[in-house]
Amino acid sequence: MRIGTLGNGLMAEALAGRWIKAGHDVMIGGRSRERAGELARRIGARAGSLQEAMEYGEVVLLAVPAEVAVAVVSGLELEPGQILIDCTNAVNHQDFTLDEPAMAEAISRAVPQARVVKAFNLAAETVWQDAPHGLGVPICGDDAAALDLVGELVRDLGCEPVHAGGLRRARLLEATAALAIGIWVNGGDVRGMFPPVEIAFGSVPPGS
Ligand SMILES: NC(=O)c1ccc[n+]([C@@H]2O[C@H](COP(=O)([O-])OP(=O)(O)OC[C@H]3O[C@@H](n4cnc5c(N)ncnc54)[C@H](OP(=O)(O)O)[C@@H]3O)[C@@H](O)[C@H]2O)c1
Repeated sequence: MRIGTLGNGLMAEALAGRWIKAGHDVMIGGRSRERAGELARRIGARAGSLQEAMEYGEVVLLAVPAEVAVAVVSGLELEPGQILIDCTNAVNHQDFTLDEPAMAEAISRAVPQARVVKAFNLAAETVWQDAPHGLGVPICGDDAAALDLVGELVRDLGCEPVHAGGLRRARLLEATAALAIGIWVNGGDVRGMFPPVEIAFGSVPPGS
C-alpha cells in the first residue's frame, strides 16, 4: 500500500524502513525537503513536503513531536476518511507524566475528517527497527476498516495487533507509555506486570 509519513525523524525511519522491506511504497514528508530526501534515500522511499506525503498515503504516519502535532495536521488538507496513525506521546521527561493527556483525541478534533488510529506509541524506535516476533501492539480507533489496515501494518513488522478499544481509550495508551518510560528509566522492568487473563480474572474473563 502507499504510506506517507509526516516527519523524517527516528520513528518515521524505523517504521517506514520496515514497511518498505515488507513491500510497501513510502513517501517521507518533511518540512525540509533536504532532510526528508536524506531519509528517503537511506531507506528507499520517495520524499516530499508534508502535504505531498499526506496526499500520497492511503495511510499516513504522524511522527512529529507531540507539542507540534496538532499544528502540523491543522495546516494540511486532508481528504475525508484519511487514515492517520498517531504514534505521539506528550511525555514530560522531567517526571514522566503527560503534558497533554489525550493527544489522539486532540488530533482527531483538529482534523475530524480523518480516521485516527493510535498505534506504535508504546515502544521505542529501536524496538520498531527490529521488533521481537509476536510483540503485542495495542491499537485504538473508532473505524473498523482503519483498524484492520493498521493491523496489517502491525503484522508486517512481525507483531500482533491488540485491539484496545475506541479512540477515547487512546489516552490510556499514552498514559501507559509514560508509566513504562518512567519505570524503564529508573531501571525497572515492565515485562512481568501483566499476568495472563486466566490468572487476572480466574477462568471466565468478565464480559464473556
Ligand atoms: N523515538 C521514540 O522512540 C518514540 C517512541 C514512541 C513514540 N514516539 C513519538 O513519535 C513522535 C516522533 O518521534 P521521533 O523520535 O521520530 O522524533 P524525532 O526523531 O525528533 O523527529 C521528529 C520529526 O518531526 C519533525 N518536526 C519537528 N517539528 C516540526 C514542525 N513544527 N513541523 C513539521 N515537522 C516538525 C522533525 O523535522 P526536522 O527534521 O525538519 O526537524 C522530524 O522530522 C513523537 O511524538 C514521539 O513522542 C517516539
